[in-house]
Amino acid sequence: MNIVILAAGQGKRMYSSLPKVLHPLAGRPLAQHVIDAARQLQPESLIVVYGHGGEAVRSALAADDLLWALQAEQLGTGHALAQALPLLAPAAQTLVLYGDVPLIAAASLRRLLLAGEGQEGLAILTVELADPGGYGRIVRDPMGKVACIVEEKDASAEEKGIREVNTGIMVLPTAHLQTWLAALKNDNAQGEYYLTDLVALAVEAGLPVHTAAAALEWEVQGVNDKLQLAQLERQYQRNQADALLLAGVRLADPARVDVRGSLKHGRDVFIDVGCVFEGEVELGDGVEIGPYCVLRNVRIGSGSRVAAYCHFDGAVIGPGGILGPYARLRPGAELGPEVHIGNFVEIKKSTIGAQSKANHLAYIGDAEIGQRVNIGAGTITCNYDGVNKHKTIIEDDAFIGSDTQLVAPVTVGRGATLGAGTTLTKNAPAEALTVSRAKQLSLTSWERPKKK
Ligand code: UD1
Ligand code: MG
Repeated sequence: MNIVILAAGQGKRMYSSLPKVLHPLAGRPLAQHVIDAARQLQPESLIVVYGHGGEAVRSALAADDLLWALQAEQLGTGHALAQALPLLAPAAQTLVLYGDVPLIAAASLRRLLLAGEGQEGLAILTVELADPGGYGRIVRDPMGKVACIVEEKDASAEEKGIREVNTGIMVLPTAHLQTWLAALKNDNAQGEYYLTDLVALAVEAGLPVHTAAAALEWEVQGVNDKLQLAQLERQYQRNQADALLLAGVRLADPARVDVRGSLKHGRDVFIDVGCVFEGEVELGDGVEIGPYCVLRNVRIGSGSRVAAYCHFDGAVIGPGGILGPYARLRPGAELGPEVHIGNFVEIKKSTIGAQSKANHLAYIGDAEIGQRVNIGAGTITCNYDGVNKHKTIIEDDAFIGSDTQLVAPVTVGRGATLGAGTTLTKNAPAEALTVSRAKQLSLTSWERPKKK
C-alpha cells in the first residue's frame, strides 16, 4: 500500500506563522500523529505532500522512511494527490490521509482497507454527523450505492440535508489515478481540483465504491482553528487519562493531567491534579506525584514521593526518595535510593548516593556525592569559573554546614565536616572539621548611633 498525507494547506484560520500541520497536539506536530498512525499500517511508501511552510515542514517531520512531494500552489486536494503520483507504487492501493486530522486510529484505517478489498475498488471513510455543515456529502443512488461526493459549497438544498459526510480519508486504486487525476476539472464553487470528484469517475468506470464508518467522531475531526485544536487536545488527553485509570493509576482528576509523550507506570501509582508529563516518563510501583509537577524524561523508582510544584527534566530518581515541594532536577541528575531533596534545591549533572539529603535551598552542579551525606541549607557548588565547568566530589558520610560554597574543582573527604559559612577552595581532609571563617569579635565599648 501507498500512503499519501496531504499537508500542503496554509491553515489561514490558525492566524499563525507556524504552518498548520506543525501546530503541536500533546507536544507533537499534528502531522506527526498522522505519520505515526500511518506507520502502524506498514506501507510500502509513505509520502507527505507539503507546500505551505515548505522547508520548515520537511525539517520538522524529517525521517528516513518519508518521501516528499512539493505542491507549490494549493489548487485543491485532487491537485495535491497528483503531486505524489510519480512516487506511488502502481501495483499497490493508495490510502489518502490528511495532515490536519491527527487522531485517526490505525484500527479505523484497517477497517477501511478491508472495505476496499482488492486492487480495483475505492473506499471512503465516512461519518454521520448531526451537523454536517462544511463537509462533503456522500450522495447515494436509490439502491443505496455511492454516486458521488458533493462539496458543501456546490451542494443543492436537498444535498445539504445529507448527514453522511466524507472524512476525506479514502483508499484508491492507484492504476487508475493517472487518468482520473488528469481528468479533474476545477469548474466548481471553489475553483479547485477536488479529490472527491474521483468518486464519480470511479462510478462512471463501473468500479465498486465502498464506505466504512469511522468508529468515533473525534478520530476524523480536522483542525482548522485553535478552538478545534484545543478540543482535540482535550479529547486526546482524556483518552490518555482513561487509559491510565483503566491500567490502575489513580488520578485525582482525569481532566487535570496532561501526557505529552509516554507515561509508563507500575502498580498503585497516584497522580495529583495539574501534572504535566513530557517525553518518556517512568513511575515505579507506589510512586506518588503531588499537584502541579512537570516531569520530562524522568525515571522514578518505586515508593518515591514527589510533593507539589516540582520540575524534573532528564533525571533518574532511585526508590524510596522524598522530593519537593519546589525541587528542580535538571539533566544528568541521578539520585540513588532514599535520597531527600527539599524545597528550592537545584541539581544538575550530579550523582547523589543513597540516603543523602539536601533539604533546603542549594545548588548542586557537576558533583559526585556519596552516601549518607548531609548538605546544609544554602550550600552551593561553584562549578563554573566563567569559562569552564569543574567537578565537586563529596565522599560518604560528609556533613556540609549551611551556607557553604564549594569552589570546584574540590573534594571533601569521607566523614569530613565543613563548618557553616565555609568557602572551600582546597580539599577538605576526611574525618576532620574544616572551616573558613573570619574570627568573630565583640566590641563591648561600641555604642549605637543616636538620632540627632
Ligand atoms: C475536504 C473534502 C471534503 C471533506 C473534508 C473533510 C475535498 C474537495 N473536500 O474539504 O469532502 O468533507 O475535507 O475534512 O477534498 N490540501 C493540500 N493541498 C491543497 C488543498 C488541501 O494539501 O491544495 C490538504 C490540506 O492541508 C488539508 C486537506 O488537504 O490537510 C484538506 O483540505 P481542506 O482545504 O481542509 O479541504 P476541505 O474543504 O475541508
Ligand atoms: Mg478542512
